[in-house]
Amino acid sequence: MRVLGISGSLRRDSHNTKLLRAAGELVEAEGAEFEVFDGLKAIPPYDEDDDVGNGPDAVARFREAIAGADALLFSTPEYNSSIPGVLKNAIDWASRPIATNVLRNKPVAVIGASTGMFGAVWAQAELRKVLGATGARVRENELAIGHAHEHLDDAGHPDDPAQQEALRESVLLLLGELENVDVAA
Ligand SMILES: Cc1cc2nc3c(=O)[nH]c(=O)nc-3n(C[C@H](O)[C@H](O)[C@H](O)COP(=O)(O)O)c2cc1C
Repeated sequence: MRVLGISGSLRRDSHNTKLLRAAGELVEAEGAEFEVFDGLKAIPPYDEDDDVGNGPDAVARFREAIAGADALLFSTPEYNSSIPGVLKNAIDWASRPIATNVLRNKPVAVIGASTGMFGAVWAQAELRKVLGATGARVRENELAIGHAHEHLDDAGHPDDPAQQEALRESVLLLLGELENVDVAA
């Protein structure tokens, strides 16, 4: 099984990208492959006029990466109580053509971190809604790491054992090992 990690932050020292890499360690511990998508910044603003064939090169690469994965794990920050624009834009590209889009029926899970108190809960909720609209199979779990600058180490591991376990459960749920587990932290 191959899991593709997608961070909603382009920042070099992003807490969300680090959290994703920590999740990736857990994915690999379960014997699955894990890779973080690194091409989000190159994806142009969505323009239906440009959405012909496979789309612009950066978009084609994104669509291929999704199509080649068995499951997707998103980690998103929250910008002004919502999803970062770059991430929404990329999903808009991936959502077309609507009937055959690469997200359709793809198992996806969402986690997130922010430096605010609530750990990007609103952005995660909106991201799950948007992914649901594309036809992805969205896991309903949530992992919200608030005050991420204080509660994640340099490799993205949560300092709180309960959140370490919630991260592991998020991964297991995505991998299909667990079902209907409430892992909200
Ligand atoms: C444009 C912008 C808007 C933000 N809005 C929120 C917000 O609504 N809620 C929140 O908890 N943090 C907000 N933050 C702070 C982010 O949580 C913080 O920058 C975080 O480190 C971003 O995630 P990253 O480390 O993965 O880049 C905002 C940051 C930026 C740059």
